[in-house]
Amino acid sequence: MSETDSPKPSTIDPEDFRNVLGHFPTGVTIVSGMHGDEPVGFTIGSFTSVSLDPPMVGFLPQTNSSTWDSMAMGGAFCVNVLSRDQADLCWRFAKSDNESERYDGVKWHAGPTGSPIIDRAVAWIDCQVEQVYEMGDHYFVLGRVVALEADADHDGNGPFPLLFFKGTLGGFESEG
Ligand SMILES: Cc1cc2nc3c(=O)[nH]c(=O)nc-3n(C[C@H](O)[C@H](O)[C@H](O)COP(=O)(O)O)c2cc1C
Repeated sequence: MSETDSPKPSTIDPEDFRNVLGHFPTGVTIVSGMHGDEPVGFTIGSFTSVSLDPPMVGFLPQTNSSTWDSMAMGGAFCVNVLSRDQADLCWRFAKSDNESERYDGVKWHAGPTGSPIIDRAVAWIDCQVEQVYEMGDHYFVLGRVVALEADADHDGNGPFPLLFFKGTLGGFESEG
């Protein structure tokens, strides 16, 4: 890259960036993994489907995330799509410095990769890490899907996902 091609310093204000990007609604997941014998995990909104053949998904943790640091060695993760009844888990798994308490009272079992599948999630996608790319202040973690299942939230009304929009949580209503 020549000097004339080098990127200009950003003129985008970080607060504006956060505010405008917050207008894009997302689902809410807990990406889980193991650190030795201990379950670890964090709240992640940047989950995305990547490829059908081969089946791949991804998400973007901050490069300074201690949770990603502790789960990366395991080489696997499970994406748990939260239901509207799991708002408390969303906030708990997004706090810093409570890593050892995040799973308190949470029912889970190990998926095929060993990563935790959280009870009552509306879907889970269990993955082996395929690649990790550094992108600015985040990594993009690409996973190869090993197993997955969509599970109703067990109340007989079908699955209701949790949504995040402008810093708050809500539910989904079909408009047609
Ligand atoms: C709805 C929601 C979505 C989030 N999505 C992401 C995300 O995509 N990537 C990320 O790095 N952090 C995301 N966070 C923040 C992390 O959950 C939080 O920084 C992390 O749990 C802190 O733990 P750690 O320091 O142990 O990594 C999100 C938080 C919330 C409430």
